[in-house]
Amino acid sequence: MKTVLITGTSSGFGLEAAKLFIDNDWRVVATMRTPRADILPPSENLDILALDVTDAESIRKAVEAAGPIDVLVNNAGIGWLNAVEGTSMDIVRDLFETNTFGTIAMTQAVLSQFRERRQGVVINVTSSVTLMPLPLLSVYTASKAAVNAFTESAALELEPFNVRMKIVLPGRAPATSFGDTARSRIQAEGGFPAAYGSVVQSVFAKWEEQADAEITHAVDVAQAIWRAATDPSSPMRLPAGADAVALAG
Ligand SMILES: NC(=O)c1ccc[n+]([C@@H]2O[C@H](COP(=O)([O-])OP(=O)(O)OC[C@H]3O[C@@H](n4cnc5c(N)ncnc54)[C@H](OP(=O)(O)O)[C@@H]3O)[C@@H](O)[C@H]2O)c1
Repeated sequence: MKTVLITGTSSGFGLEAAKLFIDNDWRVVATMRTPRADILPPSENLDILALDVTDAESIRKAVEAAGPIDVLVNNAGIGWLNAVEGTSMDIVRDLFETNTFGTIAMTQAVLSQFRERRQGVVINVTSSVTLMPLPLLSVYTASKAAVNAFTESAALELEPFNVRMKIVLPGRAPATSFGDTARSRIQAEGGFPAAYGSVVQSVFAKWEEQADAEITHAVDVAQAIWRAATDPSSPMRLPAGADAVALAG
């Protein structure tokens, strides 16, 4: 039986991916900052562990407790939407600590076991926003584009050890907690600078025009993660969701 460790399984894409792997008879190590036993269906193949990807000791303990794993899914991430002028350096650091450094630290924590066993897959969930520049998303996009670059480069040095690295690029998924969490953080930081009011309006107006058929659902992302984990011939970049697939061309 193969084992997958997924970060950020308390909601959204991570939760959906955990369900998909359990349904396909994988052992799932579902990790969360605050472990909860009630959000995933009970299964003898499920282990729930505490993990904060910004905390080195938390990473060490979780990887040790997980035992040997075959696939790591770096899904944990936080969002942010604001002008550069409306983004404090504390927020910039928070985004990079979780989205970028957390992904790199988790990858480092599993690579020696993958290399020694001559097998393993690291799947990094970034975003379709890295495919096209968008206003108010500079810092978030930078934190995810860095992961794309990291993944594509590291994949080359890991090839001789039969270790694969893949990128899943979800489109906009308004149904997960992601937008609400980002919105609370934006409000807590004082909202958008008044000078950018018209830019903010045009960004929200474009989202409202987006038809339901053009958005991403958690199941699209879970399926792309599944493909990256199980199909060695899958491409390096897997867009997930109708909007992401259209953008990727
Ligand atoms: N939704 C979208 O529109 C969208 C689009 C493209 C890409 N993405 C990316 O997809 C991934 C999943 O997003 P989602 O939509 O499923 O959002 P979500 O429902 O908000 O889930 C994000 C998960 O990340 C976890 N997390 C945040 N900080 C963490 C940390 N320091 N350590 C460990 N876990 C942490 C959260 O856990 P807590 O419950 O502890 O906060 C939560 O489980 C993220 O990387 C996001 O950037 C999202």
